[in-house]
Amino acid sequence: MTETFEFATEAVHRGETTSEQQYLSADVVSPIHLATHHEMEAPGELKNGYKYSRFGNPTRDALESRLAHLTGGSEAIAFNSGTAAITTAALALCDPGDHFIAFDGVYGGTRLLLEDLFRDVLDVEVEYVDARSPETVEEHVREDTALFWMESPTNPLLKLCDIAELAGVADAHEVPLCVDNTFATPYLQQPLELGADVVVHSTTKYLNGHSDSTGGAVATNDPAIAERVSTLQEYVFGNALSPFDAYLVLRGMKTLPLRMEQHEANAQAIAGFLADHSKVEEVHYPGLESHPQHDLAGQQMDGFGGIVSFELEASEAETRAFIEELEVFTVAVSLGGVESLVDHPWTMSASFISPEERRAAGVSDSLVRMPVGIEDKTDLIQDVEQSLSRM
Ligand SMILES: Cc1ncc(COP(=O)(O)O)c(C=O)c1O
Repeated sequence: MTETFEFATEAVHRGETTSEQQYLSADVVSPIHLATHHEMEAPGELKNGYKYSRFGNPTRDALESRLAHLTGGSEAIAFNSGTAAITTAALALCDPGDHFIAFDGVYGGTRLLLEDLFRDVLDVEVEYVDARSPETVEEHVREDTALFWMESPTNPLLKLCDIAELAGVADAHEVPLCVDNTFATPYLQQPLELGADVVVHSTTKYLNGHSDSTGGAVATNDPAIAERVSTLQEYVFGNALSPFDAYLVLRGMKTLPLRMEQHEANAQAIAGFLADHSKVEEVHYPGLESHPQHDLAGQQMDGFGGIVSFELEASEAETRAFIEELEVFTVAVSLGGVESLVDHPWTMSASFISPEERRAAGVSDSLVRMPVGIEDKTDLIQDVEQSLSRM
């Protein structure tokens, strides 16, 4: 495919380049290439572009070409988890002893890796700031600041940062801006177009969309960054996505636009229902006018996404009971699959950071996170209603 098409067309077709890749059987979907090494034309001379699967694999290449197109990057690199993508991207952009500025709302796992590897091993000073204000980020910039690590919306509190404004601050101080776009997906938000230097995704979530593949991606328009990330992947960590997982994400991404529309319609309906309920203290969903950054979400996103979190007027025990009484929502961590899930961040997705840090990050024991699936919204609302009514 040489021309560039609209998002939904690219999501279906990009990477399925049977003629370019000269598959003998002219498959309409990319086959799963399992070979770990490829015959050479002559010693030191590649036959068909491939040598060893840690350096390149046709199924992974098909996915990377689609990821690059859909994220607006010149290059995309697929990893065996979102965590691997984050670690490798951040490592590519720093030297030991540097200073990082990270959004104080980032996913707990990201916070953990920033501390366990970057702070404790590489002596990187990581400062967490309220990046809802670009001015606050700018106030913390120092000579040795090497990276802005942002996430928008954040997990689990759905806080936003103004990516275009932060890109301006980043440019002025020559600091690369990296955005974790997992919650929004490239369908709803394009950080590279808004000025970010690097975008990362956990493909485990919406991009794959079916809760059956762990993966991640880094995309950028900067060839030097891409080169460094690839080198770390190929020669240091060996953390590339497997061919089977690449196939699953290629398949999942074909329906990303359709799924995101349905996730969002359902999330908006549930958020509206919860906002009017007397047992709910506060709802965090950028699609509600009451969300403090609703206008920013309207500007920088093409929709508000599929995740709703909310505080119940309840004790921890009552919150847990509410979660356990749900029938359609499955109690599980993760998000982005077609099925609706319910998470108690205090004891589940954020449990691996200390209670003090959880509280400081605004995660209380009565917080509930709902990655809303694509089921019928009447069933979802009825389920939430029946469980709230038992409280
Ligand atoms: C926003 C965000 N980024 C990154 C990750 C890590 O991705 P993975 O679990 O694929 O390593 C997660 C996982 O929940 C996440 O929510």
